[in-house]
Amino acid sequence: MALLNLQDLSIRFGSTEAVRNLSLRVDARESLGLVGESGSGKSVTALAVLRLLGESAAVTGRIEFDGRDLAALPEPELRRVRGREIAMIFQEPMTALNPVMPVGEQIAEAVRLHQRGLSRRQVREQVLEAMRAVALPDAAARYADYPHQFSGGQRQRILIAMAIANRPRLLIADESTTALDVTVQAQILELLAQLRERFGLAMLFISHDLAVVSQVADRVAVLRHGLLLEEASRAAIFRNPLHPYTRSLLGAVPTMQMDLEKPLAMLKASAFTTVQFHIGEDSPRAIPPLREAEPGHWVRSVPEPFG
Ligand SMILES: Nc1ncnc2c1ncn2[C@@H]1O[C@H](COP(=O)(O)OP(=O)(O)O)[C@@H](O)[C@H]1O
Ligand SMILES: [Mg+2]
Repeated sequence: MALLNLQDLSIRFGSTEAVRNLSLRVDARESLGLVGESGSGKSVTALAVLRLLGESAAVTGRIEFDGRDLAALPEPELRRVRGREIAMIFQEPMTALNPVMPVGEQIAEAVRLHQRGLSRRQVREQVLEAMRAVALPDAAARYADYPHQFSGGQRQRILIAMAIANRPRLLIADESTTALDVTVQAQILELLAQLRERFGLAMLFISHDLAVVSQVADRVAVLRHGLLLEEASRAAIFRNPLHPYTRSLLGAVPTMQMDLEKPLAMLKASAFTTVQFHIGEDSPRAIPPLREAEPGHWVRSVPEPFG
């Protein structure tokens, strides 16, 4: 059963269509990677799930979490979902942490916000447990330290500790390793994989980098200009990437085996150029449909003049 189920999600800012008719699901304990270049609509999708977009955004469609439509949930109930059942970690650990509050206290605040009635001792125990779960050395000794006393990778671990302290069922990670150097990034990805296993977490892992996504995602969804272009298991995306844009993300060279039923010359023409979808109000049919190329592997046809 789907834990998170987006159905026909569209997000507009005035005349800008940031996300168009996006349907996606994340099953319990599953990790879905959402990949696409900057501006493709990844972050607004994540923010829409938690209803954190401002008034300027017009959101339509269903956002089901565990059978409830979050889009229709009253704000007080939604607040219980945010942070408690769905936690989010952002890109910038330094801006997400309060520089003048000890890190242990910051994690404790997150715990107290969602689990009322815990004693001081119980809160502290949960904080230390979360700090240990993210492999922060000397958790007890460092409880009272401030963010600047930690390295960038450790600060990211602190944010992850805050996110998992309430044992959420879904973790949304938006470019959460992008600011880190490659070695630290690999350690954080490894940590996320461990936490998933240990706590049975589902993950929506967002990145512009398909190589990073492929390290943590069971399934990959490729977004461009707010449109889902391809979705498949991680293995299928690498073995048989179908959309030219997915191949360009992989840095792959088009080959004769591409199963798009198109003349090779046309594929070459489309492979690395910007495929512009002309989607005006007056021409909704200009969006080519998704088709299931092999079981569980969906791809949007390459639009005219290439399709
Ligand atoms: N608050 C906003 N007001 C207007 N446009 C926005 C706003 N937030 C995002 N957008 C637009 O929505 C599109 C998708 O943005 P975003 O989800 O941040 O992309 P990504 O995370 O994939 O880089 C972009 O064209 C962006 O300019
Ligand atoms: Mg973003």
